[in-house]
Amino acid sequence: MRGFEEIETVGVVGAGTMGNGIAQVAATAGYDVLLRDIESEYVENGLAEIDDSLSRLVANDTITENEKAETRARITGTTDLDRLAATDFVVEAAVEKMEIKRDIFSDLDGVVDDDVVLATNTSTLSITTIAAATDRAEQVVGLHFMNPVPVMKGVEVVTGEKTTGPVTDLAHAFAEALDKETWESDDKPGFVSNRILMPWINEGIRAFDEGVATKDDIDRGMKLGTNVPMGPLELADHIGLDICLDATETLHAELGDRYKPAYLLRRKVDAGDLGKKTGEGFYSYDR
Ligand code: 3HC
Repeated sequence: MRGFEEIETVGVVGAGTMGNGIAQVAATAGYDVLLRDIESEYVENGLAEIDDSLSRLVANDTITENEKAETRARITGTTDLDRLAATDFVVEAAVEKMEIKRDIFSDLDGVVDDDVVLATNTSTLSITTIAAATDRAEQVVGLHFMNPVPVMKGVEVVTGEKTTGPVTDLAHAFAEALDKETWESDDKPGFVSNRILMPWINEGIRAFDEGVATKDDIDRGMKLGTNVPMGPLELADHIGLDICLDATETLHAELGDRYKPAYLLRRKVDAGDLGKKTGEGFYSYDR
């Protein structure tokens, strides 16, 4: 296995919100990063989001203009998966569909050196099933970042059935090198984070749909009552309703009816109202 000290170049697959956030924090930590997506438009959008995020960090004096430029210079966008042959550690952050992730891992397995660890940012899908698409299941691990990645401190390390101890240790060490703090979960549906978070969000949506209170009162109630920064409906818009629906459907399929997605969540996703990213969710946003 390629060890922590040998990691110089990091591959990130998927330039969406999570992928570009991971690329940004890896580059901030000093790694060279190859950020790959299937269309150049997705890569460009991801790089533009990184620019915006770094500018916010300059604006609040977290980094200097110079550090922004240095960080940005360490990130190279590409649509060519073969270029990830040059990487020493890979994090996949593509869409939450098992077949797509398995295809990506099978392709990565053929491209990336045999001793390189492949991590997945999946939020609910089985690490073991993703790993089985490769010939290096013992070197596949879950590395689940939280949104927004540049701001959120926590990263969940998820051990698949075959993940070895040194690979798990490497995942913790890598996350800590990105200035994150970790916790560990077994490869059970939703892991620790989304097994507990998604039913909370789902119940908030049901409470709204069933007329328990207005959406503002549900969010205010949870914020004032439990000191969380966002109520369930705001947080659902922040994460993306499509992602909440995918995660809740996985939990429902694996764990039964207590996780059945709220009717209103499905209806909003069907209507294309996915939260902040489309400008319309439970609340309206100026895009
Ligand atoms: N990049 C850089 N900086 C950012 C940023 C980004 N993407 N997003 C926010 N910031 C900075 C802002 O510039 C601001 O800095 P300042 O206070 O020094 O000026 C600071 O973070 C706070 O941001 P805002 O003032 O815009 O807004 P808030 O104070 O409301 O904070 C929040 C925004 C950090 C998102 C906060 O509301 C929060 O912590 N919400 C909960 C988020 C959460 O729970 N995330 C996890 C979701 S679960 C998940 O991701 C798992 C997945 O599998 C579903």
